[in-house]
Amino acid sequence: MEAFEIIGGTRLKGNVDISGSKNAALPILAAAILCEGDTVLHNIPNLDDIQSMLTLLQRLGVKHERLGGGSIRLRVEDELNCHAEYELVSKMRASICTLGPLLAKRKRAQVSMPGGCAIGYRPVDLHITGLTALGAESDLVNGDMMLKAKRLKGTEVFLGGAFGSSVTATANIVMAATLAEGRTIIESAACEPEISDLADFLTACGAQITGHGTPRITIEGVKTLTGAEHTVIADRIEAGTFMIAAAITNGELTLNRARLEHLIAVVDRLRRIGVIIERSEKGIAVSSSRRLDPVEITTQPFPGFPTDLQAQATALLCLADGNSVVTDKIFPDRFLHIPELNRMGANLRREGNTVIIQGVKRLIGAPVMASDLRASAALILAGLIAKGTTRMSRTYHIDRGYERIEEKLSAIGADIRRTDI
Ligand code: EPZ
Repeated sequence: MEAFEIIGGTRLKGNVDISGSKNAALPILAAAILCEGDTVLHNIPNLDDIQSMLTLLQRLGVKHERLGGGSIRLRVEDELNCHAEYELVSKMRASICTLGPLLAKRKRAQVSMPGGCAIGYRPVDLHITGLTALGAESDLVNGDMMLKAKRLKGTEVFLGGAFGSSVTATANIVMAATLAEGRTIIESAACEPEISDLADFLTACGAQITGHGTPRITIEGVKTLTGAEHTVIADRIEAGTFMIAAAITNGELTLNRARLEHLIAVVDRLRRIGVIIERSEKGIAVSSSRRLDPVEITTQPFPGFPTDLQAQATALLCLADGNSVVTDKIFPDRFLHIPELNRMGANLRREGNTVIIQGVKRLIGAPVMASDLRASAALILAGLIAKGTTRMSRTYHIDRGYERIEEKLSAIGADIRRTDI
C-alpha cells in the first residue's frame, strides 16, 4: 500500500505555485452540461476528483479534450444519459453538482444519493428544496434522486439550513435558475468565492446573475447558454494549507497566485497566533520565527474561518504556547484527525463539536492513517515538524484535493517521499 514518509524538522522556504481551486472547478465543469458549443477552462488542477467529474461528464454525453497546462475543452455531444450512478457518486460527493444542470437543460435527472462520509452527516435536503421550488417533481427510487420538470419557473428560494448556507446546493440552484422562466431570488445563498467563480463563468456563457458573493443572489432566466472560456480561481484551501505549513515549520513562503481576500478569516487567526502575513506582488508572503500563541477558532460559512482548514489549524495549535479551542460548526464530526495527532504526542480532547488543545513542546513521528482529504493534510503538516519519521498510509485521500503535494513540499525543503509499506 502506498504511503508518505516524512522526516520532520526542516524550515520551509521559497515559492509555491497555488493550483486552481478544486471546489470552484467541480461545479464549473458540471455547468458545461448547460452550454451549447465549446467551453474552454483554464487552471484546472490535476486531481483525482477532477478526473472523477470528467469521467461522469463523459457518461452524461459531455466530451472533453485535455489541451495541456491545466486547460480543458468540453462539449455536449449527446443528451441521452441523465443518470449519475452510485459507483461514481459514492467516490465523489460533488457529483451532485450535475443535478441542477441536467434538470435545467434536459428536464430530467437521476443522481444517486451520496453515501456516507468520513467528515460526518451530509444531507441533501436543501438541494431538493431548491429544485422543487423551481417546479421540479422529485422522488427517491432505489437510492437515486429522480427529478423531472416540463419547465422550471423562477421563484424565491430560502437555502438556509441548520448549519448555515450550503455551497453545492447554492451552485445547483444557481445553475438550474439560469435556464428557468423568469426571476429567481436565492436568500441565504452561500457566499464562498467558488460560487462567485461559478457565477462569473455562467455570466460569460450568457447567464444573467447578480448578487453572487452575497447571501442574496438574483438570476434572470435566459433561453440558452453558449460555452465560454474561463480561468478558474486559485485554491484558497491549498493556499491556507501552505500558510500553515510555513507557520508550523517557522518557515518563510510566498504563495503565488493566492488571493488574500479569499482568506481574511484565516489571516486574522494566524496573525493572532503570531504568524507574519503580507500581500506580495505575486500573492501572499507568510513567515514565522517564534513559538506560536494559542487562539480560539470557530468555523463558519464564508467569510468565516473555513471548515476545510479546521484540521490543519488544529495540527498547528498542537504546538502553541498554551491552550487553544477549535469548534467546527459546519461539520460537527470532522475530527478523525484527533486520535492520529495524539499518536504523535499531541494533547487533544474532543468535546462534541469542539476540540480542546493543550500545547505541547514537540510532536514525535509515528505511523498514522489518513481518513479524509483535509485530515490527511493535517497529518502531513504535523509530520513536517515532528521529531523523526512519520509514515501516513492511504495517500489516495490527499490526491483527491492536492496536486503533487510531495513535489511542492520537497521543492521548498521538506523531506517527504511516496513509498510502499
Ligand atoms: C462544499 O461541500 C465543499 N465541497 C466542502 O469541501 C466544504 O467542506 C463544504 O462546502 C463547506 O464549506 C465542494 O465544494 C465540492 P455544504 P458541500 O452543503 O456543498 C449542511 C473539501 O474538503 N447541509 O456547504 O457538500 C451540511 O451538512 C470538501 O474540499 C444541509 O443541511 O457542503 C453542512 O453541515 C469537504 N443540507 C453544511 O450544510 C443540504 O442539503 C454545509 O454543507 C446540504 C448541506
